[in-house]
Amino acid sequence: MTSLWQARRDAAPESASTLPASDFEDGARYDVVVVGAGLTGLVTALLLVRAGKKVALLEAGAVGSLTTGLSTAKVSLLQGTMYSRLSGETAMKNARAYVAANQEGAAWLLRYLDEHRVAYEVRDAYTYAGTPDGTAAVDEEQLAAARLGLPVEKVVLDLPFPTFGAVRLPDQAQIDPIAALDVMAMDFRARGGTLVEGARVLRVSATGGENRGDARVISTLGQIDAHRVVLATGTPILDRGLYFAKLEPVRSYGISYRLPGDRTGIDGMYVSADAPTRSLRTTPIVEGDGFGRIDGELLIVGGNGHTVGRAPHPAALVDDLEEWTAANFPGAERTHAWSAQDYVGANPIPFAGWLPRSAGRIYFATGYAKWGMTNAVASGLRIATELLGSDTWWAKTIGRRATRPQSIVRGAVNGANVGREAVEGWMGALRSTLPKDPPAEGQGVVAHDKGRPVGVCTVGGVTRTVSAVCPHLGGVLTWNDQETSWDCPLHGSRFTADGTRIEGPATADLA
Ligand SMILES: Cc1cc2nc3c(=O)[nH]c(=O)nc-3n(C[C@H](O)[C@H](O)[C@H](O)COP(=O)(O)OP(=O)(O)OC[C@H]3O[C@@H](n4cnc5c(N)ncnc54)[C@H](O)[C@@H]3O)c2cc1C
Ligand code: FES
Repeated sequence: MTSLWQARRDAAPESASTLPASDFEDGARYDVVVVGAGLTGLVTALLLVRAGKKVALLEAGAVGSLTTGLSTAKVSLLQGTMYSRLSGETAMKNARAYVAANQEGAAWLLRYLDEHRVAYEVRDAYTYAGTPDGTAAVDEEQLAAARLGLPVEKVVLDLPFPTFGAVRLPDQAQIDPIAALDVMAMDFRARGGTLVEGARVLRVSATGGENRGDARVISTLGQIDAHRVVLATGTPILDRGLYFAKLEPVRSYGISYRLPGDRTGIDGMYVSADAPTRSLRTTPIVEGDGFGRIDGELLIVGGNGHTVGRAPHPAALVDDLEEWTAANFPGAERTHAWSAQDYVGANPIPFAGWLPRSAGRIYFATGYAKWGMTNAVASGLRIATELLGSDTWWAKTIGRRATRPQSIVRGAVNGANVGREAVEGWMGALRSTLPKDPPAEGQGVVAHDKGRPVGVCTVGGVTRTVSAVCPHLGGVLTWNDQETSWDCPLHGSRFTADGTRIEGPATADLA
């Protein structure tokens, strides 16, 4: 589904997608190949090309086609209840390093947007209690954030829906993530970087012979070699280090609305501390929205997240968000609806660095827990700095952190849930027989055909049958009735109705 940001790009006369495409040169050699043109990949690639490296950036879809282009895009140091989590799960010095990394990420991004005249809005950020039970979590967050030196204060909000206390951090920002990526993509190409869209990386292997110590990147367009490879693919697409097992893929929903009078009545960026999650921000109406030149703003409402592949009816979660908005913002008219996923690590601090068992050839970054606007930039800064032979104190501190019992328990619970889903998926498929009639439009079912799980769905009047076994590690897929996709409840790989891979650790399509 297309986000408001992607729709604006489609309506704009000039964007990254209209830049002359770089050619994929089969057999070429680069200093660094970066895989994935989201925020992590573009920041990393840009920093390296600016330092004089020969860099190729390979993107399976288009620039920003996944999480970054579907983000709510608040650039905020107040991040829900992140500091309460950090206080419980990591040492104070690591929490301070996390804050420093995010401060540097935010400062770098906003400075870059200023330099390239990309508009954004400075707004106060709030974490609020949506129920009386959430008040304690807000109080705890205020204390945890203040202990880390952030200028937070407790406030009482006057919003169109009930709140039960809030913490405020002034002067954060909200951006258009596609506008940010597009300017970075143009900058990267203008500096001689090779950016190829539509190149899905399938494998990375070690090279031998005179280029021993390099890595070979095998993609759908051919293969190229590099001294170092950076996987900026959301979750890593290689299983070394088993990072897919240390991450929970979480999908959530975003909807933009036009309101009567083109005023939203809110002037900050809000996220609830308690369930059900609600995230709100505004964005100025622009020419590309199709309403003409209007001095007004749209409202963006997000929330209702869940582990990928484990919500029985994602469409019902979108209906629920719509009902909540209609009740609290009367007259709101939906302009766009979309969804995306991000990866929540067992450890609260994102992973960024070299991939185990890659002999230092392959780097990766993941685990931003839906706060990647700052964390992705920090990861890009960290990896690029390391590849250029330098370091920062916060990167060194984070790199040496130990995993605490609370994070180990979180990881174990995640692992147990994955194990249960794996068994239940296979049992459920083997218990179900293929339907006599095709599923209704927009619906899909999993059943067995001679003992193998298959998925049958009808989309756009076409009924298709695909293998319902995830090519990553054999999870049985579930049907996503909101996005008409096959989703894996184990580690979050997703596929279109015809079996084409969309995202996640799998690199192959469905049979
Ligand atoms: C609904 C939602 C709202 C959010 N809101 C906020 C927010 O308000 N503030 C905030 O700070 N963070 C937010 N986040 C988190 C933030 O958007 C992400 O953490 C961040 O965008 C991740 O960037 P990325 O570059 O790692 O991943 P992506 O943007 O997903 O980029 C990865 C890229 O890699 C490509 N790729 C994958 N596999 C391959 C392959 N095999 N070969 C080639 N290319 C490949 C993909 O096509 C993709 O373009 C939100 C997340 C979600 C899901
Ligand atoms: S994503 Fe790992 S088994 Fe499907």
